[in-house]
Amino acid sequence: MNPRRRLLLLLAAVAFTCAAARPCAALVRLGAATFLDAPARFGPRVTSDGICGSLRAADPADACAPVRAAPGSGGMAFVLIARGNCSFEGKVRAAQLAGFDAALVHDDEDKASLYSMVGDPEGIHIPAVFVSKMAGQTLKKFARGEDGECCINSSMDETAGTVLVMSFVSLVVIISVVASFLFARNCRLLRHGVDNHPPCIKKHVVEKIPSLVYKAPCSSGNNCEEACAICLEDYDNGDMLRLLPCKHEFHVECIDPWLTKWGTFCPVCKLEVTTGE
Ligand SMILES: *[C@@H]1O[C@H](CO)[C@@H](O)[C@H](O)[C@H]1NC(C)=O
Ligand SMILES: [Zn+2]
Ligand SMILES: [Zn+2]
Repeated sequence: MNPRRRLLLLLAAVAFTCAAARPCAALVRLGAATFLDAPARFGPRVTSDGICGSLRAADPADACAPVRAAPGSGGMAFVLIARGNCSFEGKVRAAQLAGFDAALVHDDEDKASLYSMVGDPEGIHIPAVFVSKMAGQTLKKFARGEDGECCINSSMDETAGTVLVMSFVSLVVIISVVASFLFARNCRLLRHGVDNHPPCIKKHVVEKIPSLVYKAPCSSGNNCEEACAICLEDYDNGDMLRLLPCKHEFHVECIDPWLTKWGTFCPVCKLEVTTGE
């Protein structure tokens, strides 16, 4: 594998890792502690300013049965729910039914990545986010149920934007690398081709080479020939001849196809017919 192709693959890998390994993530904050969360793929998203409210652990912890109602304190109330035993959607619906304004579901195992909860969005009007087991334990430990203590921010639009921009930039980089690679290769092919098959002279250029009407005896000075070296026919009075810069002359019908299809030089002396272009 050549280094260029290796670089290309590396770039592609980096770009896809960047785009794929950063799902729309946002942050949950409680006091000084901040945790990464993954917004659910169903239900509303947290508004752009983020939301803050009190936080309590769900009762029962897995929210697989009706959850004890949220306190009607006026401020927003969030509920922390453990993963497992029933669907994410069921947990979020139970939280909503109990009057909570957002649901935080924490993992029940230590895992490196956060899960993007899926479910049917029908009738769900509270946002839900997924946090790690460690985040869940810390949140549970320090939550006091005080107004505004816990904030769910919505950097996810930003993050989504960043991912989009990064993907786009990577794409542009990849495309330009591929393009320059292909371009360089095509140029090489082209140059290669040029070496093997010299380009012919364009018809309109050939037609600009001086021509004359043959009149016996021959009229073009020193190199005066009586016959065309291409078709070997003697010239007749009135034949149109093309006079090449080397002073060799040929029938127009004979030399023009030669120059436009076969070679760029005089068939007799091999001198290049420089056209000045
Ligand atoms: C799941 O259900 C079992 C049995 O009811 C219970 O012991 C366990 O605590 C539940 N899991 C969670 C995370 O609440
Ligand atoms: Zn001829
Ligand atoms: Zn010649």
